[in-house]
Amino acid sequence: MKRRIEVFETFYELGRRGAERFIAAAAAAITRRGEFTVALSGGLTPRPLFRVLASDEYLSRVDWRRTHFFWVDERCVPPAHPDSNYKAVFDLLLSKLPVDDTHFHRIPGEQSPEVAALSYEQDLRDFFAGQSPPRFDLVILGVGTDGHTASIFPGSRLAIDTSRYAVAIYVEKLDSHRVTLTLPVLNNAREVVFLVSGKEKADIGRAFLEENNQRYPAALVKPVEGSVTCMLDSEAASLLPEDK
Ligand code: 6PG
Repeated sequence: MKRRIEVFETFYELGRRGAERFIAAAAAAITRRGEFTVALSGGLTPRPLFRVLASDEYLSRVDWRRTHFFWVDERCVPPAHPDSNYKAVFDLLLSKLPVDDTHFHRIPGEQSPEVAALSYEQDLRDFFAGQSPPRFDLVILGVGTDGHTASIFPGSRLAIDTSRYAVAIYVEKLDSHRVTLTLPVLNNAREVVFLVSGKEKADIGRAFLEENNQRYPAALVKPVEGSVTCMLDSEAASLLPEDK
């Protein structure tokens, strides 16, 4: 499966073009099926995308009443905690939308990790009834400098070799308990978009995009019947070969 690579001059332009892809994916899904399902990652890179979608210029360009938000992963903290991925999206975008929280399928990070994972898995099974694994219209991912994506870190197979849709992960180096979507779910998406920014991501940006590279979890994201677009700013793309 070939990954499409798009490079944009600035961090902000990356966010704006990511918002355009979000809008296009939403329109296509709603036209085709009457609803749009999206799974969002945490971290800093997607935040300009959330801000752009919440802006006056963009807010009316998505049918929010037919949109359902899920999370790629979550830290096991309450939703009001500053580390919460739900909080980041709520503050920047969800709080501005004309819909109630039945559209927000957050991972209950306030529960114990395994209970939160099981609860989220049940929500996924209920919402995506009959789809095994759930098939998201759009999944927005980041990548860490170690090649992790979602909360799937190098050296851990827990979220890779599994029939589960969501699992609890303890990330020792971060001393962080998390819940993450599993690779089978990510690889059943219709569309995956990686957002990669900053010069500290230049090495990993080149490494995980090499076709034969399987060392990094991010490189394992290859939807069977879906597309992968890697959207990078110029700093993150600075080590990519010219022909990429
Ligand atoms: C999280 C994210 C994580 C993130 C990467 C990149 O919960 O932290 O889901 O996988 O996407 O760590 O983070 P940045 O965008 O901040 O570089």
